[in-house]
Amino acid sequence: MQNLDALVAEAKAAFAAVTDPDALEQVKARFLGKSGQITQHLKELSALALEEKKRAGAAINSAKDAIEAALAGRREAIRLAALEARLAEEALDVTLPGRREDKGGLHPITRVLERIEALFASIGFTVADGPEIEEDFYNFTALNTPEDHPARSMHDTFYLLDEAGQVAKNVLLRTHTSPIQARYMRAHVERYKGRETMPEIRIIAPGRVYRVDSDATHSPMFHQVEGLWIGEDVSFAHLKGVIADFLRGFFESDDLKVRFRPSFFPFTEPSAEIDMAFMGGALEGRWLEVAGCGMVHPNVLQSAGIDPEKYQGFAFGFGPDRLAMLRYGINDLRLFYEGDQRFLRQFA
Ligand code: PHE
Repeated sequence: MQNLDALVAEAKAAFAAVTDPDALEQVKARFLGKSGQITQHLKELSALALEEKKRAGAAINSAKDAIEAALAGRREAIRLAALEARLAEEALDVTLPGRREDKGGLHPITRVLERIEALFASIGFTVADGPEIEEDFYNFTALNTPEDHPARSMHDTFYLLDEAGQVAKNVLLRTHTSPIQARYMRAHVERYKGRETMPEIRIIAPGRVYRVDSDATHSPMFHQVEGLWIGEDVSFAHLKGVIADFLRGFFESDDLKVRFRPSFFPFTEPSAEIDMAFMGGALEGRWLEVAGCGMVHPNVLQSAGIDPEKYQGFAFGFGPDRLAMLRYGINDLRLFYEGDQRFLRQFA
């Protein structure tokens, strides 16, 4: 049957002409469907004589097979074309470096603060806290530094503005962590009011402090760790022991000298500056100032409601930024606060 070859060719051409699967199924119906041309041919067979029927039947079936094969081939081709189009559309540039998750890490100052807290915790100090926006009273007055006291000029203070834009004299950014001890002593006295004796106070108070100052060794925001130990029998000897022990623990070295240099703070008497020197390494023999300290002034105790005849103790204020610089060998304090990943990553 000569027109069967033509039919197969027509089907192939029709399949080739469509590009989406739905259209292909429509075209298929034209040839293989219930009223499609192949079905039509098969229906016509009944009119033929037996021999002729056999021959024509075989020819129609092979045409049908050819059309079905062409259909399957076209289906596959359309599927692959769609896949390829999608792959091209969603192409990944495998030459781009992958997006990796960056590992975070603690800031070196945080590490140092945690280290200080752990060392003091090991000798019974708990951690106390206080506000960074502080009242003049706790920052100065309660610490034996009344208004017009010359010691106030030792601190270049950031004052806050009130709603009218005027300097609010009684609100400031704390210039040191010592107001935390002033607050803590009051709360402690309140807690044990009415008792014959009160338990010891043994706290450290780490935190941010603020002064109008900025150069390689001063930042307008820096850190202090205040320490306070008040009891019935706490002496300067305890202070020396605690500090020397702490510094040796902090720097993991016994090759370390500590000296107390007489100084002045309004809230301690006597007062001292604490210097330390390494006995080896690059900084060998150089005295470095790391803290202020002293025996808490009777006026400060009294102001908190503590009887200075019965209780006494010491306070100190460390500069953890300085300790961090020494521990990590950093020569510019401002590096800690610039947020430069290249710097910070080294501590992660
Ligand atoms: N608060 C003092 C300062 O900022 C340090 C200090 C604390 C000194 C406690 C003595 C006792 O300079």
